Amino acid sequence: MDQLVTDICRVVKECGNTLLTADRSHMGIDTKEGAANFVTEYDTRVQKQLFEALGKILPQARFVGEEGEKAEVDLNGWCFIVDPIDGTTNFIKDYHMSCISVGLLLDGKPEIAVVCNPYLDELYWARRGMGAYCNGERIRVSDQPLEKGLVLFGTAPYSRELGEASFRMAWEYYCKALDVRRSGSAVLDLCAVAAGRAELFFELRLQPWDYAAGALLVEEAGGKITTVEGTPITFHKPCSILAGNM
Ligand code: IPD
Ligand code: CA
Ligand code: CA
Repeated sequence: MDQLVTDICRVVKECGNTLLTADRSHMGIDTKEGAANFVTEYDTRVQKQLFEALGKILPQARFVGEEGEKAEVDLNGWCFIVDPIDGTTNFIKDYHMSCISVGLLLDGKPEIAVVCNPYLDELYWARRGMGAYCNGERIRVSDQPLEKGLVLFGTAPYSRELGEASFRMAWEYYCKALDVRRSGSAVLDLCAVAAGRAELFFELRLQPWDYAAGALLVEEAGGKITTVEGTPITFHKPCSILAGNM
């Protein structure tokens, strides 16, 4: 592992500890735009922790985080795209299915991905051309066909108008695969595909911080990630996601 990856892993793991030691009696829950869209004091706190620590590691990099101003994303040069807590609703519910996600892009292409699931003590990382790893072990996508596979999906909860189409698509996959799952964390779903624990993941609308790291993990694990229409995914604006061992 090179120094940059080691340093980012250390920071992301420290943020994992912030989640594990959270004072659940002072969550500071607030609502955001869209249905059932929340932010807690810990989303803000972890994003600040990432901003400060990653800024020391690579001062020339831009920083895009979910809990910030939504200016036009400039992807020239180095750019961190982070989700301080992916699975905020799970975090509020103490459902133990949330993570910290950091993608580092160079000129719009993911170079490094680091994800920490503190509840399972799992640290994922990938570097372009060097493979994907979970707790130091190389991971690869599954070699099983869809008929013997698990399909993970997200319900696009903040865009309720996509709900019906999401469940219709889930139904179609349910008819073809072993079963479907909905975890509440798109990032951890992408990690599960990369680790070969599930064969496919889809969601009809996600933001770049939901897949900036997961996309590289899936690709470096030998999988493929596109929009649901099969076109290339975008890192400067939201898109749908279809990822798997296809
Ligand atoms: C959400 C989670 C969820 C997915 C949503 C995402 P957040 O991220 O990944 O699984 O269905 O589309 O926005 O808001 O918890 O960071
Ligand atoms: Ca997210
Ligand atoms: Ca988030």
